[in-house]
Amino acid sequence: MLTGKNLIYPTDFTVEQLEGLFRLTDDIIARPEKYARSCVGKILATMFFEPSTRTRLSFEAAMERLGGKVLGFADPASSSAAKGESIADTIRMISCYADIAVIRHPAEGAAHVAALHSFIPVINAGDGGHQHPTQTLTDLYTIRTKKGRFHDLTIGLCGDLKHGRTVHSLIHAMCRYENIHFVLISPEELRVPDYVIREIEAAQGCSYTLNPDLDDAIRQVDILYMTRIQRERFASQEEYLRLKDSYILDGEKMKNAKEDMIVLHPMPIVNEITGAVDEDPRACYFVQAQYGMYVRMALILSLLGGEEGYPTVCGAKMFEKTCVNPRPNGTVHCKNPKCVSNLDLTLPIRVKDGGKICEYCDATIEG
Ligand code: NCD
Repeated sequence: MLTGKNLIYPTDFTVEQLEGLFRLTDDIIARPEKYARSCVGKILATMFFEPSTRTRLSFEAAMERLGGKVLGFADPASSSAAKGESIADTIRMISCYADIAVIRHPAEGAAHVAALHSFIPVINAGDGGHQHPTQTLTDLYTIRTKKGRFHDLTIGLCGDLKHGRTVHSLIHAMCRYENIHFVLISPEELRVPDYVIREIEAAQGCSYTLNPDLDDAIRQVDILYMTRIQRERFASQEEYLRLKDSYILDGEKMKNAKEDMIVLHPMPIVNEITGAVDEDPRACYFVQAQYGMYVRMALILSLLGGEEGYPTVCGAKMFEKTCVNPRPNGTVHCKNPKCVSNLDLTLPIRVKDGGKICEYCDATIEG
């Protein structure tokens, strides 16, 4: 049982726990009426500091279909963040009102900060270009359904692998399975971050090749995970314009793919997949989006403790979790300018893996 846990990385759950979550998803799809009142009396808070359609609405639909209620904001301008409130204080307040919280934020590591200060389970719905674990649950459920296995797969990931958080999370999750080969299809400028490469290298059953040529790579893959070029994360508009049409998957390219290959995409699609591909039976991205709501139902149920329920938080416990190690006067800092610790300077630096890696965003620590 996952009760009371947070979901910040997809690997916050063991492989066995994930399988349990997917079995629950199967059952929710088969017998939705059984779960229609499972979350009566519970409240889900959605804190969206960045635009979203699918993720926010699928969370809201998931909670409504479980009989619970939803509150929150979709526009940071309408929250106290616009007045300069820290993530830590915002989540402390939300902890008083709701039973479970979903956060999307442009800063890398923001959801981790929220979890550190929360008294209710926190779900990361995307932290900048870092991670997007609930999209990964959706991707994994689709792979499980369509391919029937998580091992012995060649997975092509194509597009903006540098900024695409869904790519980082999916690789992170797949590194736990046997005999996975990643084909990383991107222009040099949009290669996956070094920390993701380090993860693949450290995983026993995994390997990768860099291949910028989609025409060539498509022949060998079992799964093609397409992504859009992420305009909002580019420092220079010129560079975005130069790279935005790097890859377009069309009917011609699909002719070279295996007959049982599947195409996934986290959505939204901008121009990287033509309409003709939508009609190809190997295109699975619409059903993938549909599975997203059911997987999120299973996730909410599991974190809230299923039928046993998760006790509603009591305000008196709130202030036990505060920042204990104040920041050491700027002598040490995370090298990533998009890291939450460089945006909220009151946050203490936190390190992992022997001290040189930032616990919030996985970049290197300096100083
Ligand atoms: C993704 C995201 O927000 O990272 N969308 C989603 O949540 N399904 C992918 C994207 O925006 O390109």
